Amino acid sequence: MVEWTDDERNAISTLWSNLDVGEIGPQALSRLLVVFPWTQRYFPTFGDLSTPAAIAANPKVAQHGRTVMGGLETAVKNLDNIKNAYAKLSTMHSEKLHVDPDNFRVLAECISVVVAAKFGPSVFTPGFQEAWQKFLAVVVSALGRQYH
Ligand code: HEM
Repeated sequence: MVEWTDDERNAISTLWSNLDVGEIGPQALSRLLVVFPWTQRYFPTFGDLSTPAAIAANPKVAQHGRTVMGGLETAVKNLDNIKNAYAKLSTMHSEKLHVDPDNFRVLAECISVVVAAKFGPSVFTPGFQEAWQKFLAVVVSALGRQYH
């Protein structure tokens, strides 16, 4: 069972309520596909992913970025039960999509970079980063739970 301090809960809810899923999601997924190019193999129907500019302009990337980022709301709303809240999504990524779970960790890195760039150092302080990284680490762990 993960313990959260009041400061961590406040940091996560402040960041989440000031963050636009429609902006951060597409940017984070675009970054994933550029920085970790092997992740492109999971999206064979997305069309042109040949250059960073093509990825950034690809509407399917944007749409799926919103979906993935929107999926984090489940964790924000179930901070004390993230593992169970993600059981079905974990099974789906494992058994149906066959996504290597190390990709959850690298996507989390991309999300953090985009969130840090968006908020800047005056909001994304070390304390906020600590809470946010912990939050994403718990999400990554929960999404990897149903892999056998
Ligand atoms: C689908 C969330 C990471 C590949 C989805 C869906 C959600 C989601 C909510 C839609 C589920 C549905 O249709 O019922 C997340 C979250 C992630 C994550 C919260 C981590 C923070 C990844 C990663 C990859 C990936 C790292 C691959 C590199 C896919 C694929 C689909 C999918 C291929 C199906 C797309 C489609 O055909 O519509 N994910 N995901 N996901 N995800 Fe993830």
